[in-house]
Amino acid sequence: MPATVVIGAQWGDEGKGKVVDLLAERSDVVARYQGGNNAGHTIVADEQVYKLHLVPSGILYPGTICVIGNGTVVDPGALVTEIDGLEERGVSLDGLKLSGNAHLIMPYHVMLDGAAEMRLGRFSIGTTRRGIGPCYEDKAARVGIRAQDLLDPKILVRKLEVALEAKNEILEKLWGMPRLEPERVAEDQLRYAERLRPFIDDTALIIDEALRDGKRVLFEGAQGTMLDIDHGTYPFVTSSNPTAGAACTGTGIGPTRIDRVLGVTKAYVTRVGEGPFPTELDDDDGRRMLERGNEFGTTTGRQRRCGWLDLVALRYAARLSGMTGLALTKLDVLSGFERVKLCVAYRDRDGNRLTVFPYHQTVFHGCTPEYEELPGWHEDLSDCRELDDLPPRARAYVERISEAVEVPITLIGTGQGRHQVIDVVDVTG
Ligand code: GDP
Ligand code: IMO
Ligand code: MG
Repeated sequence: MPATVVIGAQWGDEGKGKVVDLLAERSDVVARYQGGNNAGHTIVADEQVYKLHLVPSGILYPGTICVIGNGTVVDPGALVTEIDGLEERGVSLDGLKLSGNAHLIMPYHVMLDGAAEMRLGRFSIGTTRRGIGPCYEDKAARVGIRAQDLLDPKILVRKLEVALEAKNEILEKLWGMPRLEPERVAEDQLRYAERLRPFIDDTALIIDEALRDGKRVLFEGAQGTMLDIDHGTYPFVTSSNPTAGAACTGTGIGPTRIDRVLGVTKAYVTRVGEGPFPTELDDDDGRRMLERGNEFGTTTGRQRRCGWLDLVALRYAARLSGMTGLALTKLDVLSGFERVKLCVAYRDRDGNRLTVFPYHQTVFHGCTPEYEELPGWHEDLSDCRELDDLPPRARAYVERISEAVEVPITLIGTGQGRHQVIDVVDVTG
């Protein structure tokens, strides 16, 4: 797997952290290409739980280069806290590299994120309130602050002056918030700069050199396909592209360099925040998924909404990212259901049967799921390590998913732990 992109195939929290950690053992470089500390990637290794937000999920392997790419948005204070927390636990940060071109989340971005959510009221998106959207807005408006600006205090103050001229008007007049002084903001950021300086580098060049040397590079997506700003359930999305194409622009390599795209999906669906979710359950089945899957957000602690696996959305995700393999996580959570359901099609408001994900939001918002039911299984899967260890009904469920999505299932998660996994390569073949 010379260059492999790992993406979320649903609404985030599919278990990307665990999958990337697993593959990182066999990789030289792991690079995040979008998103920021709205992400929460969990790794459970040697009974220790690590919750990573910005640092790539390859950091537990000493010697692995971990790149925070130019397409990410970085809150300097949050990154310093994360680095300090990992160091305290004995994790080496020697391999960490931060792109000089990555945009920085400033305090006013966090303030504006919260204010915008309050203003939207019952139409709010349910963001993580980490300032992600406002930071990407400033990047596009060309008034953003980048990691490299931390290396030049004069430029930093100048850029903050320009950015704050407009921001202060909004903060004060629209939201009744205090104005921010560019010098004060710069002073705070420059404290983090001392800590971050050694990590800032030309990461696009580092990745290019690694690929030229035949090293194995993993690109770690954050969020998920259905939260993609272009292809997701807009406006209930994040402000970046979690789909595989962004791995190129978000790290600075060309599309010809990517060999594989591994989609990560839970064996059911969860979603945090607002927005449509056709297979959402508000019954005992949903509560069972919530409890058995411990479905509470890694970043915000919010309860995740739960529902049956949506194959229409999963096929859409496979198409958008050109998936070559699928990692199916949390299959163990589905043990104990009498029957398990798979959404194979939608019915729109007029009763039409849709098997292709509808592009129009009005149609999608009116969709109800059409289910195929399969017999459930009661066996505990937590010790399954081979495909043959799976009870036949669980295996039939896996095979049905692979067949419907037309992508081979290459990994199956059977528990939270690093080694609770079936490394399949291809269950269809
Ligand atoms: P990410 O954002 O995609 O990295 O996913 P999160 O870490 O936010 O959420 C996934 C949760 O499921 C974490 O608590 C993981 O430890 C856990 N997890 C991952 N794979 C499995 C699995 O196969 N079985 C079980 N039971 N838990 C898993
Ligand atoms: P990982 O990488 C799940 C959701 C938020 C909200 C929407 C927009 O752990 O899978 P934002 O703060 O990005 O502007 O919020 O996106 N969201 C996530 N949901 N997992 C994530 O990351 C998420 N990152 C953002 O809940 O609905
Ligand atoms: Mg998460």
